[in-house]
Amino acid sequence: MRIRPRRNRKSEGIRRFHRETHLGPEHFVYPLFVHAGSDEQPIASMPGCSRHGLDGLLKEAEGALKDGISAIVLFPAVEEALKTSHGEEAYNPEGLVPACLRALRERFGPELTLCTDVALDPYSSDGHDGIVKDGRILNDETVEVLVKQAVCQAEAGADIIAPSDMMDGRIGAIRDGLDEAGHSEVSILSYTAKYASAFYGPFRDALDSAPKFGDKKTYQMDPANAREAYREIALDEEEGADILMVKPALPYLDVIRLMREATELPIAAYQVSGEYAMLKAAAAQGWLDEERVVLESLTAIRRAGADIIFTYFARQAAAYLRG
Ligand code: PBG
Repeated sequence: MRIRPRRNRKSEGIRRFHRETHLGPEHFVYPLFVHAGSDEQPIASMPGCSRHGLDGLLKEAEGALKDGISAIVLFPAVEEALKTSHGEEAYNPEGLVPACLRALRERFGPELTLCTDVALDPYSSDGHDGIVKDGRILNDETVEVLVKQAVCQAEAGADIIAPSDMMDGRIGAIRDGLDEAGHSEVSILSYTAKYASAFYGPFRDALDSAPKFGDKKTYQMDPANAREAYREIALDEEEGADILMVKPALPYLDVIRLMREATELPIAAYQVSGEYAMLKAAAAQGWLDEERVVLESLTAIRRAGADIIFTYFARQAAAYLRG
């Protein structure tokens, strides 16, 4: 045998020479749950994650910065009494997310990149990402509210607005709304290919935001489809998105790759709550080696083509990578 591929794998030094994928904390966005109280509320289906009060949030953000992670994304657990059918609380300038943004900016300055989620589900009494009428999710009426939500978040200091709602036309409308309000420097990270996935279960526990009826299949994409992502990519590019996202991540590596090849824009992938919960559960049983599966999964997501990874493992993975 003249050709022996194993020669290129014979030592760590040689393997390191030609390693194709690099994983580092600079690639992570760390999702954090917040609530209006001051206590820390552990989330049963996401061991290691909590709904943070303001102090807990500031502490977690500070830890992330120390770990080399420079971006967080906020998800609010909103009191039931503030939820309405039109989600007005989503654009209350005194609401939970704007208050957290101001506190984070004051404490950390521009060093910490602040991302926010745009969608109505945490604020909707129906638990849907849009306004519901007669059992249907209204598109254009919802987009008007999403624009208000995005502008409200930008005014409070968000650097990157991330619409996760999957309404048609929202990227362009939000871009115009931000520009008209004087926020042309605020970026949009679009959830371009967000699937109607069962892997969001633990997240909906965390926010108590599960749909009160039906499912999200009339707006989120069908898990059976990949080609359909090309339409969403084309629209998001035209409408002015800065970064495109695929969600979930590991079960959709083919879509990450497809998107990598279809656009020059940076690509993000969201390793969602169910992906996190699966690894945590198996590791807790002693069935998987947590450190190795976490780093392998994140590396696979990068290898598929993601520049940026939203992951609840951000701080843990940063610690593993430090060794
Ligand atoms: C809602 C939203 C969801 C997630 C992020 N934003 C849930 C959903 O669409 O039902 C899921 C994140 C996760 O599971 O970690 N707009």
